[in-house]
Amino acid sequence: MKINLKDRVALVTGANGAIGRMICHYLGNAGCKLLAGHAGFHKEVAEQLVADEKKEGCRIKLLEFDVSDFEATRAAIAEGEAEFGPVDILVNVAGITKDKPLKKMDPETWQKVIDINLGGIYNCTRNVIEGMSDRGWGRVINISSINGQKGQFGQANYSAAKAGVHGFTMAVAREVARKGVTVNTISPGYIDSPMIRAVPEDIRAGIEAEIPIGRFGQPEDIASMVTFAASEQAGWITGADFTVNGGHFIH
Ligand code: CAA
Repeated sequence: MKINLKDRVALVTGANGAIGRMICHYLGNAGCKLLAGHAGFHKEVAEQLVADEKKEGCRIKLLEFDVSDFEATRAAIAEGEAEFGPVDILVNVAGITKDKPLKKMDPETWQKVIDINLGGIYNCTRNVIEGMSDRGWGRVINISSINGQKGQFGQANYSAAKAGVHGFTMAVAREVARKGVTVNTISPGYIDSPMIRAVPEDIRAGIEAEIPIGRFGQPEDIASMVTFAASEQAGWITGADFTVNGGHFIH
C-alpha cells in the first residue's frame, strides 16, 4: 500500500520530541508540507529537525508556541497557514509528565499536565477544525498513552489528561464525521525516548519486563501508525483508539 499525502499541510506539535520528530519525518516522506510546533525549550533540536527534513527535500517551517496558551496557538497556526496554506492534518503530540503520587501532588503539578496534555489538544484542534470541515477533508490524530487506558502509579494528572484525550476524540469525531474529517487517538505504550529514560532505572526495567513483545517501542512504531491514520486509505476510521504498545495492555 502506497501512502501519498503530497502537498497536504501537516501540523505536528511536540515536533522536537522523539516521537514528534519521527512523525515529521514519516509525514514529510509521504509528501506533506510540515508545520513543526515546539515550545522552544530545545531550539537546537528543532533546528536540526529542519536541517534534516530540508536535506530530504521536505518543506518545513518551525512554529514556536505554548499549546496551553489559546491565543499563542491561534497566532502560530495563522502564521503557519499564511505561508503553507490551511492545515489538513493535525497531529497533537505535545505532552509532559510530572509524576508524583497523588498524596504529594500539588495543584500546580496537577494543572500544568492537564493544561498541556489535554488543554493543548483543545487549543490546537479548535483552531483548525472549522477550516477542515469547510474544505471537506481533514485528519486529527491525538497521541494519548497506555497510561490513559490503564492508569499508572504516580500519574493521576497524566492518566487523567490522557484518558480525557480519547473522550475528546470520540466527541469531536461524531461532530465532523459528515464533513470528511476523521478524528482518532493513538495510545502508545512505553517508547524508547527521554521521557521513559527519566523513569528510575529499577522501575523502568520492571516495566520492560511486563511487555509481551519484550522490548520498548521505537518512535517509528508510532510514526507508521500516524501516517496510516492520516492517509486517504484510513478514511472510514474515526473515533478509534489505536493501541500500539507491544501487547503491554491488551483489552
Ligand atoms: N505500584 C505500587 N506501588 C508502587 C509503585 C507501583 N507502580 N511504584 C512505587 N510504589 C511504592 C514504592 O514501593 C514505595 O512503597 P513504600 O512507601 O512502601 O516503600 C512507594 O510506592 C513510593 O512512594 P513515594 O511516595 O516515596 O513515591 P515517590 O515520591 O518516590 O514517587 C514515582 C514515585 C516518582 C511516582 C515513581 O514511582 C515513578 O517514577 N514511577 C514511574 C511512573 C511512570 O511509569 N511514569 C511513566 C513515565 S513515561 C510516560 O508517561 C510515557 C507514556 O505515555 C507511557
